Amino acid sequence: MKDTKKDKIKDKMKDKMKDKMIAVLTGGGDCPGLNSAIKSIVTEACKDYRIEGITLGWEGAIRMALDNKAIETYTMPLGREQVRKIDREGGTILMSSRSNPYNHKGKDISQKVVDFLNDRYHAVTAIGGEDTLGAAGKLAKQGLRVVGIPKTIDNDLCGTEYTLGFDSAVNTVKTLVTNLKSTAGSHGMTFFVECMGRKSGHLTYWGGRAGRVHFMTIPEVICETKRLFNLIQKRKCSLVMRRGFTLDGVRYCIVLVSEGTHLKGVGEIIKGKKDPHGNVYLGGIADYLCNEYINATGDHKARSLNLGHLPRGGPPSNKDVLMAEALAQKSLELIKNKKFGRMGTIEGNHVKDTPLSVVIGRIKVLDAQKCFDPDKYQPRVSAEQIFHEIEVDK
Ligand code: F6P
Repeated sequence: MKDTKKDKIKDKMKDKMKDKMIAVLTGGGDCPGLNSAIKSIVTEACKDYRIEGITLGWEGAIRMALDNKAIETYTMPLGREQVRKIDREGGTILMSSRSNPYNHKGKDISQKVVDFLNDRYHAVTAIGGEDTLGAAGKLAKQGLRVVGIPKTIDNDLCGTEYTLGFDSAVNTVKTLVTNLKSTAGSHGMTFFVECMGRKSGHLTYWGGRAGRVHFMTIPEVICETKRLFNLIQKRKCSLVMRRGFTLDGVRYCIVLVSEGTHLKGVGEIIKGKKDPHGNVYLGGIADYLCNEYINATGDHKARSLNLGHLPRGGPPSNKDVLMAEALAQKSLELIKNKKFGRMGTIEGNHVKDTPLSVVIGRIKVLDAQKCFDPDKYQPRVSAEQIFHEIEVDK
């Protein structure tokens, strides 16, 4: 009898705490701006809620759902003091993973995750790309009280014009190719530079445009290597006039290659096996193209370079700090209004929201017909319209 009374009081206290506790997690590839979003959530929400970070994205939630004893390991309390300085840093203090509650070592343990999270938290804020938020969308359908913040340097999420981290990554790509230009220019070299982005060319396109690269390839347009090599050769062999000198055949060339570009007759260049969300690991296309180019032309001053994870690192740009703030505010508004199963979005100059389900199975790519010239391997720049995007099946 006594025990039942005690249990009831315990349950009541637990419910009260749950009412006041929000979880935050970051999943998928990290990007600049994640820590800014975490800080904005904490500083804004800590008046009304307790905030707890779940570490390692869905991995932390899975571990805790499978074993309650793991709670201490996979959570961290987040208060003003913990987040005071984090907005200046790239990465995520909560760490990240590509884990998937629908494919944990081949098993679907999503309902366990929903039950655990709903039992412990009033709401969960998932900060992620199409995989993390796609999973959040499905978990929401199973009853999880979850809201989303869109982030990825790929900017390929449907339902929003902008994803956190993209602007910082574009700036870094621009800086890196600009640095490369001075050395390539001094030696008349050709560089094939690989850039992340998976099946969408946003990062290559905007980083390449801002860095004024000479040619670019994007996943939205099949690349005919012979035609690309001819263009490079034509450029390299054109006359260059410098401070009174006329030089022949020494022009340099930067070709920015999106990692997911489909090469005619070859396909994509794949590096490794699939992740738990079914994405293949892309990588190696710049190397491949560089070797093919040297074999085809004999230009031994050609080199390849993979920007790799560099554009994903570093501090957030001004735009990403401000976007993080706006999207964090929206996520709290969604929680307060109990509009679960939705994520914040950017549309024009407005912060709006949309169901998380819009990100499932679809991605946003460049509308290449409008913004890319496949004969020149260069952007088509329009005075009327800046952004050209369409949504397609994954
Ligand atoms: O989705 C973000 C992204 O950076 C992609 O552009 C890239 O293909 C992938 O992550 C790389 O993943 P990982 O960091 O696991 O190698």
